[in-house]
Amino acid sequence: MILTRFRNLINSDFAQSSFLNHEIAFMRSQLHKVDHEGLRDFISKNLHEDKSYLPREEILQLKGRREKFEAIKNCRSISTFRIKKEFPFKKSLEEAKALKHLFTDHRRDPNYGWKALCLHGSSPGHTNDFNMYGYKSREEANYQWTEIADRCPVTSDWFKENWPYSEFHRLRFVLLEPGGSITPHRDTDGERGFFAVNIALNQPFGCNMFMDQFGIVPWRPGDIRWMDIGNHHAVYNFSDEDRYHIIVHGLQGPRFEEFEDMIVNSL
Ligand SMILES: [Fe+2]
Repeated sequence: MILTRFRNLINSDFAQSSFLNHEIAFMRSQLHKVDHEGLRDFISKNLHEDKSYLPREEILQLKGRREKFEAIKNCRSISTFRIKKEFPFKKSLEEAKALKHLFTDHRRDPNYGWKALCLHGSSPGHTNDFNMYGYKSREEANYQWTEIADRCPVTSDWFKENWPYSEFHRLRFVLLEPGGSITPHRDTDGERGFFAVNIALNQPFGCNMFMDQFGIVPWRPGDIRWMDIGNHHAVYNFSDEDRYHIIVHGLQGPRFEEFEDMIVNSL
């Protein structure tokens, strides 16, 4: 029964969040009744293997790197694009877990159990965008490495040494607690496109990210994905473990060609 309601939730209009919130509250209360075999079957049927929807051969035939990059960037038959790059996710997960007591609530009600901690930003606890705190600009918000960066050297050094951004804005650990939900939303005014980058540090069974019109994102620990957060999306943690991700925002700036190479080489 719970899976039928779960299926209805996913197939319903993602924008109708008042209905969804009611439904999510119900499902959270039923968490202990989830039948894991049924859930496994349900997830496998709804996984969206994104790259199989990408017109890879057509893109490879395009001449220049810039054309290939633009074709990937403008592709709307996928909602996430997996970047081929190794990330030390096991060490990073250990670092994040050791700091769990410092995470703060991020966008509560109607969300539940969503917490974050900034490695780079205005402060460790300023987990939202600068305008939520009254700053008029990024400059005024004074984004910089926070004291958290020193407490998770494997993670912060990896970004300083390996990630092709000329400046970072917010770089955060985010966690979703058991029974937690990030209700359907989009992070732009409707503009579609790949904006943020998410990295999965773990992927507890039963915790899933849904992309409207696409299905379940097939996250695996260590995956780095360029995300179309202009599309409605939601996350529900029906596992009994915290789910940890990293979300990175920033500017490629003068390192744009390196970024382009990284995307095109991930085809
Ligand atoms: Fe989002």
